[in-house]
Amino acid sequence: MPYRWRVSERQYGYGRGKVYPASAARGLLNPARRLVQPRSSIARRTGARPADSLLELGCGPGYFSGHLGRLVPDGRLILFDLQPEMLLHARRHAGGAGTGLVAGDALDLPFARGAFDVVFISAVLGEIPDPVGALREIHRVLRSGGRLLVVEVRGDPDRIAPAALSSMVTDVGFAAESRRGRGWSYTATFVRES
Ligand SMILES: C[S@@+](CC[C@H](N)C(=O)[O-])C[C@H]1O[C@@H](n2cnc3c(N)ncnc32)[C@H](O)[C@@H]1O
Repeated sequence: MPYRWRVSERQYGYGRGKVYPASAARGLLNPARRLVQPRSSIARRTGARPADSLLELGCGPGYFSGHLGRLVPDGRLILFDLQPEMLLHARRHAGGAGTGLVAGDALDLPFARGAFDVVFISAVLGEIPDPVGALREIHRVLRSGGRLLVVEVRGDPDRIAPAALSSMVTDVGFAAESRRGRGWSYTATFVRES
């Protein structure tokens, strides 16, 4: 049986393998980040439609959340994070009627099979000790034909390189759709095959 840590055993801090601490949440909202990761155009790459169900996994303090929420005015946006304090920050950025906040672990998502049309995940996978396990969970909660958008940024100690990401994600049963960005930040889109 694979090792499953309890939340209380996780190490919070900076550096490889540690979870980005909620106490430093403001660092993720630095306006300079917009130069490298323009939120609106990155959010649109999800291809989300107005009535879609969208899961933002590891939302942190909500850098992308408001822009994701605007894409699904007739659907719902679920903000999910290991740290409840992060959700409290994110709530301020995406407080629309269709927004839900859920605290939990990506390795054990509390959602039904096929519950979402789109999953968005930015700078999170590398913090999870078993990223393939998390991808399996994402695959389970996405509907057939649903889309996964992964965002990674240079300078993040847990960044996953495009080739390594592609290999993990396709092993789990996704088909690669597109990749954008070669410099500081890249986004990769995958489709859940049936
Ligand atoms: C570097 S921050 C990125 C936050 C946000 N996605 C962004 O791009 O600004 C990583 C986030 O992933 C969350 N996280 C790490 N491991 C997780 C897990 N196993 N399940 C859910 N969230 C997790 C952390 O709590 C943190 O908020």
